Amino acid sequence: MNATFSPGPTPSVYGRVQLGYVLVDSSRLADWKRFAADGIGMAVAENTASVVALRTDAHARRLIVRNRPNEDLALGWQIDGDDALSTILKRLAARKVPVEESAGEEAALRGVDRFWRFIGPKRQALELFTAPRIEAEPPKVVGGGFVTGSRGLGHVAITTLKPDAMVKFWQEIFDAKISDFIEDRISGVNLKFTFMRVNPRHHSIAVAATKGLAMDPFATKIQHLEMQVASLDDVAAAYRRCRALGFKIAMAVGQHTNDRDVSFYAVTPSGFHFELGWSSTGDAKGESWPQVVHQGISLWGHKPQDHTLGDQLAQLGNGVMSLFRNEYAPF
Ligand SMILES: [Fe+2]
Repeated sequence: MNATFSPGPTPSVYGRVQLGYVLVDSSRLADWKRFAADGIGMAVAENTASVVALRTDAHARRLIVRNRPNEDLALGWQIDGDDALSTILKRLAARKVPVEESAGEEAALRGVDRFWRFIGPKRQALELFTAPRIEAEPPKVVGGGFVTGSRGLGHVAITTLKPDAMVKFWQEIFDAKISDFIEDRISGVNLKFTFMRVNPRHHSIAVAATKGLAMDPFATKIQHLEMQVASLDDVAAAYRRCRALGFKIAMAVGQHTNDRDVSFYAVTPSGFHFELGWSSTGDAKGESWPQVVHQGISLWGHKPQDHTLGDQLAQLGNGVMSLFRNEYAPF
């Protein structure tokens, strides 16, 4: 008899998961406020010596930066309904991933009533919640506003030494579906990107890995966070504001091959990149969405702008250092 506990099949949570908030630990709060509010155009919900919180829609908080000496980041995932949450928690328990439940001040900081926190692949802190605090007053954002709704806050891209384990994690825990792939050669390195969706947004998670020898050229937990705005004018205006404020632009405006996002990438005060995009195509992908491998991340543009030789050398150094690191995978 097999003594191993088997949870059996559980109902799919696909379509009931969305990126809800991002909690950044940083000592650069004033820079973050300038970047997120004055540059990108988010609305300030709280601005104190210990916390800068920002809104993009009816949610009380979407991006929270708290004052901490060490840079870090947690991704909050909104789960639609207690049954879907319970399914996800059962799957984590079956794989012996420890989960900690919190409420009170820590939950209020995130704009939720309670949350469940665990450590995912690459030691990325992941948090689950079902009930965001919603404000009656619309946020005072710059421009025409952000695209959220059932698509959630946006997407994140994560570089990894273990792409198979990371993709499997999102498939097994969150019923993520693969939208498509991109292969490209960037800074002399061959990369493969896997784009996964958990709701109508083309992708909520992109996993990037080198082909061949496994290297990770990024020192930050996520490579970038993306948000979408309602118009192309909003992308252009935010690009000009970020430039005028002196924030580095990692990649100038361009258009992606797969989701057709027209976007630019700025460097956040924490070092990871922030992509602001607009898409004309919408992104409700049915089951028939072709799972193709695109060649190249962009149809046009996205040229490195403020990427110096120093930045390139730092990435090379990170890549070499990563050869000696064993990346954490929860199962
Ligand atoms: Fe992106």
